[in-house]
Amino acid sequence: MKLEKKDILKALENITVPGEGQNMIESGAVKNVQIFGDEVEVDITIANPSLQARKKTEVEILKIIHKEVYEKAKIKINIKVEAPVAADKPKANEIKGKPLPGIKNIIAVASGKGGVGKSTVTANLAVTLAKMGFKVGLLDADIYGPSMPIMFDVAQEKPLAVNIDGKSKMKPVESYGVKLLSIGFFTQPNQAVIWRGPMASKALNQMIFDAHWGEIDFMLLDLPPGTGDIHLSIMQAMPVTGAVVVSTPQEVALADARKGVAMFQQDSINVPVLGIVENMAYFTPEELPDNKYYIFGKEGAKHLSEDLKVPFLGEIPLVQSIREAGDVGRPAAMQTATPIESAFEEITKNVVQEVVNRNDSLPPTEAIKITTMAGCSPVKKK
Ligand SMILES: Nc1ncnc2c1ncn2[C@@H]1O[C@H](COP(=O)(O)OP(=O)(O)OP(=O)(O)O)[C@@H](O)[C@H]1O
Ligand SMILES: [Mg+2]
Repeated sequence: MKLEKKDILKALENITVPGEGQNMIESGAVKNVQIFGDEVEVDITIANPSLQARKKTEVEILKIIHKEVYEKAKIKINIKVEAPVAADKPKANEIKGKPLPGIKNIIAVASGKGGVGKSTVTANLAVTLAKMGFKVGLLDADIYGPSMPIMFDVAQEKPLAVNIDGKSKMKPVESYGVKLLSIGFFTQPNQAVIWRGPMASKALNQMIFDAHWGEIDFMLLDLPPGTGDIHLSIMQAMPVTGAVVVSTPQEVALADARKGVAMFQQDSINVPVLGIVENMAYFTPEELPDNKYYIFGKEGAKHLSEDLKVPFLGEIPLVQSIREAGDVGRPAAMQTATPIESAFEEITKNVVQEVVNRNDSLPPTEAIKITTMAGCSPVKKK
């Protein structure tokens, strides 16, 4: 039996890439096929980093080649995970007027209500993505109460200036493999910062455009609470790929999360909601992990996601070590082999999967242009 490359490629056309709706050849997932006698070596790239996705792809390739081409072929599969990018032009980083070179996906983390754990979830998502091998940036866009310098234990650091092509740029501070910029680096710890909308936008714009971020697969934005001006400014400033909404299970938080989702979905903003995370889903004492106390009510955010028909991304319990980890500046998900690490891994994989789905089905989000006139709601300029 003489193996031929064209037969292998034809067989691989029978495999569809999960979340991409195309077969492996069409989607460009197959990078190379080499034949050595009865040995076949296949190089592929997929966007989903989960072990399950990799295993499934591997098994499918083995099966189809054995079935369609040669049942005794010896097959070696090399799988590379690469961050998804929206397929249609223009790419997020080519949007006219607002170049964001090298940044593939921008994910905003919002909540509606304050104090529900946006920053905690953002920090843990960031370190988990970095552990998975992605290049991660984090922009602390909470100009009123920046918390990332403390959560990443870099409160004493300052971003350095670097010279890029004759221009002076800010170099993000790096911690646990995450590149970080925050307004907190430029203010005194006890100084109350009073920003008016335009000043706040300007500061954020500088952290986005006057910084040397380099290559970034996922840029996370930790938003301030609420659904106000600053949120519009951010979405004016940059093409956000999608939003993650964090809520706790009780009614008052859910009502605000609903507003948060509605803000992203309104016509003038139109940022896809990747899903909802339920934080503080139940209290569990560290020494009795099987005891779950639903002190804020059970599965409130899960039900909200069903009601709003947006994906449910997962739940995080209320545990003392998450709070402590935030305070000492080492996100809880850094600690390996714990239920907390697994919970954040699950959510992170779901976020990546939703980005894959989103980039497959929608063109990149454009930075919106907002005009405000007295008495008028913001509109998107065509
Ligand atoms: N799952 C959790 N278990 C225990 N403590 C938590 C959990 N999530 C968040 N916290 C703690 O609750 C407090 C508020 O969390 P965090 O600062 O992340 O909320 P936030 O939504 O970003 O708040 P803000 O609206 O002020 O920006 C912090 O002290 C944090 O450590
Ligand atoms: Mg916060």
